[in-house]
Amino acid sequence: MDKLVLTGGARLEGTIVSSGSKNGTLAIMAGALLGKGETVLHNVPAIGDVRTMMDMLRALGVKCEEYPKGIVRIDATEIDVTEAPYELVKRMRASFCVLGPVLARKGYAKVAMPGGCDIGARPIDFHVKGIQALGAYVNIDHGFVEAECERLCGTEVYLNFPSAGATQHIMSTACLADGMTVIHNAATEPEVTQLTDFLTAMGARIEGAGTNTVRIEGVKELRGANYEVPADRMEAGTFAVAAVITRGDVRIEEVQYDDIEPFTLKLREVGAIVDFADNCMRVRCNARPMATDIMTMPHPGFPTDLQQPFAALLATAQGTSVVTENVYERRFRYVNELIRMGADIKQDGRTAVINGVVKLTGVQAVASDLRAGAALVCAALGAEGKSEISGIEHLQRGYENMVEKLKALGAQVSAVPDEQEKETVFV
Ligand code: UD1
Repeated sequence: MDKLVLTGGARLEGTIVSSGSKNGTLAIMAGALLGKGETVLHNVPAIGDVRTMMDMLRALGVKCEEYPKGIVRIDATEIDVTEAPYELVKRMRASFCVLGPVLARKGYAKVAMPGGCDIGARPIDFHVKGIQALGAYVNIDHGFVEAECERLCGTEVYLNFPSAGATQHIMSTACLADGMTVIHNAATEPEVTQLTDFLTAMGARIEGAGTNTVRIEGVKELRGANYEVPADRMEAGTFAVAAVITRGDVRIEEVQYDDIEPFTLKLREVGAIVDFADNCMRVRCNARPMATDIMTMPHPGFPTDLQQPFAALLATAQGTSVVTENVYERRFRYVNELIRMGADIKQDGRTAVINGVVKLTGVQAVASDLRAGAALVCAALGAEGKSEISGIEHLQRGYENMVEKLKALGAQVSAVPDEQEKETVFV
């Protein structure tokens, strides 16, 4: 496995183009299982999680091919296999969301209970409750969820928390149910709207996506569709943090303002200048950032996925910031690594108090999950001296060509084989 070697201090400057949204793509690929005929997706990010989802579709006997320039063709006319292997679901939680579409098409589905980034308890009770409400008999046994039905029937579902994954999963499944389904307290994340646009292109009837009440009128059949995946707001946010932490000037193209607004407003609070024109986000900062408090919440609150890189920025801000994580309790696993870089952070439960220091210093550090890795990369870019970050397989799950993009902006970074790990393996 590679590690990243970064030398901090270079001011990031220049333009990059956003990749397609990771979370949007994963939900859409699972949704593609609902359609007969070919689906062609454009602007699909070349990342590990998408490859895992492709492996999942193929494991279900569905045709799925990757072409250059972010094109993926999926033909789910035939779904030959109704059991999703543990090997794939343990790698990525989003792959669990094939359960409902396979059930809706075949009347039966068996999917291993999910794994994914270790960022806190990640139950599937909302998903199961929704699928049961649609009329399926669900049995959970030996680490698998097995669902069976004659027909799915429209229903009302109330989510205790506006879960993005459960909203997407229940919404997709309900597209092929008889009658109307209403999801109350639905998630309003942009990726829910992206999935809705795709399902609508397939022939689905959905109203209210992007609000807390989503109505789905079931149809008999869906067809394949063409769809261009919008930009990844988390990637854009990560590069925006990197720009500020290096006092740089970075343009990120193809960003939708509305999708990233809550983050943008916080970035301005720390003193960054953020401009939008023609879907291009320009982020500049030429002074030490100021402290601010952030509190993660479902959209349109501050996104939990950007809490970690943003905290790296606050670690060097002037003053004291309080970070409250309301979505995943274990999303502070980067804190000890930042402290080793010289940060002054006190974390207890869901809260971290960050007293900004003037400079962080480069260290050897381990990325414990995807966004923790993003936090360490941002911190290392702004730090004095060299950092070596291992565990970058997490970053490769979610960031397309991160090293190349950072290099294009002037960062001193390279991916090198982790000799340490090799020794451990061969001794
Ligand atoms: C998605 C994103 C992830 C992001 C998260 C929150 C993908 C692939 N991943 O994950 O990057 O951090 O949204 O914005 O899209 N919950 C339950 N029961 C359930 C489902 C969720 O209690 O059945 C809870 C979770 O424990 C968590 C909260 O709901 O506290 C939000 O989770 P959810 O929105 O479902 O996250 P994911 O869809 O898994």
